[in-house]
Amino acid sequence: MHGGLKSLRRSVQPSFSRYRCLASAVPRSRRAPKEEGSIAAIFTSLTQGEEPNVLPERFTSLKRDIFHEGLVESWREVLAELGPAVEEISILGSDIVPRVSYGDIEKGLSTEQISRIRRVGTVVIAGGVPKEEALRWKQEIKDYATTNASHVKGYPPENIQIFEIYNSKPQIQARTHPSILSTHRFLLSLWRTSNPNTPISLDTPLSYFDRLRIRQPGDAKFALGPHIDGGSVERWEDPGYREVWRRIFGGGGAWRSHDPFDATGRDEAKFDLYHASNACSVFRAWQGWTSLSSTGPNEGTLRVLPMLSLSTAYTILRPFFRPKDPHSTSLKFEDWEADLDGPRFPGSSIGKTQELNERTHPHLRLGRTMVSVPRVEPGDQVYWHCDVVHAVEAQHRGLGDSSVLYIPAVPLTVHNASYLRDQRLNFLSGHPPPDFPGGKGESEFIGRGNLTDISSPEGRRLLGFEKFTTNEGGFKAEFVEKANRALALE
Ligand SMILES: [Fe+2]
Repeated sequence: MHGGLKSLRRSVQPSFSRYRCLASAVPRSRRAPKEEGSIAAIFTSLTQGEEPNVLPERFTSLKRDIFHEGLVESWREVLAELGPAVEEISILGSDIVPRVSYGDIEKGLSTEQISRIRRVGTVVIAGGVPKEEALRWKQEIKDYATTNASHVKGYPPENIQIFEIYNSKPQIQARTHPSILSTHRFLLSLWRTSNPNTPISLDTPLSYFDRLRIRQPGDAKFALGPHIDGGSVERWEDPGYREVWRRIFGGGGAWRSHDPFDATGRDEAKFDLYHASNACSVFRAWQGWTSLSSTGPNEGTLRVLPMLSLSTAYTILRPFFRPKDPHSTSLKFEDWEADLDGPRFPGSSIGKTQELNERTHPHLRLGRTMVSVPRVEPGDQVYWHCDVVHAVEAQHRGLGDSSVLYIPAVPLTVHNASYLRDQRLNFLSGHPPPDFPGGKGESEFIGRGNLTDISSPEGRRLLGFEKFTTNEGGFKAEFVEKANRALALE
């Protein structure tokens, strides 16, 4: 036992003198650790069934402040467009999700491929990481979990499918893998800033630590229903976040000009007003995973709603309307009316993710429109835009494990740099990254990842161990300086 701890201590000593200084200063995150637990904490449906929380009365005033008559026409238009969109998705099923090869990304995608990725909001990228490498990562993670079995946590606790593991060596290698990094550069390049002075660098990907899934055949516990990450009530309550939807709230058909890929405003948005365990507090442009298994539909994989702009407009407008007759299931515009006399925000709860189901968001027809992503092989990657409604198949009916490393594409903002600082410190001490359930994490694990597992300067920068640089002056230079201050390397 003692020998184990000694070797553990040795293993976390960084190999570069300036990092040794960071580690020896016993630095801890400036952010207070979040509550201990698992992924279940962020889902109202997993902790209290489908009964929604009742929101405080201030949310009634919030609705009245945002609402204006112009939204009624927008609501009518959105409902009218949802009908044909639902039909198209029902016919195409999984085929609607674009699938490209990593080689195509290196060569450059066609305009048609890019516009389809933008419309659907999800993309499968085949062949980035060699299959053998991905399978080796999975084996090493299993070995790591076995070595540290008495400490490993996850969900469900009695038969873990999603592990509270963030700092294994394979995760570090994957996050800094050249193919994954260049995929992230491509994905971030699909975004733009409508205001050129927005303090965001879409050319500078950062590493956002997340956990992993090794889901066994037959599992029906790790069933995440349809949801959108990035907070729930925050979308309306936080003035910065609300600004992201300024066109949807504009009325008079302005919702059509909402550009999901306009990053302006996302840097100011607060995605986690309530310091909720598992809530992503950074601007995460694309959530994503890298597959460690051969997994197809019905084998415990991801499901997505493949109509990004329309589902976003609907979701944002939804709290302002209700059926005239509470018992009616009619989806017709005429049978709905403005809802301004109560704090109802369907599927939203304080400190939880935004959940959606057939009852809370009936016009989306989720039973017909949530499609499973096509089959993936080990080393393939899947990404979905941060506003995409997604879920995990309720049951894993396949024969092999369904396994992924969650590795999203995240750009540089000042807030994201400050998060990176705390994530770096927690990584050095083996604690969970700041957004995730707190506790000792892997601090007492044997064989966790450390700085020596990062083989390139670019990899070190991704994880916040190198300063950001720019050759540009003016606003850009000022922004990079602020980001470096937030990173606090010295
Ligand atoms: Fe999610």
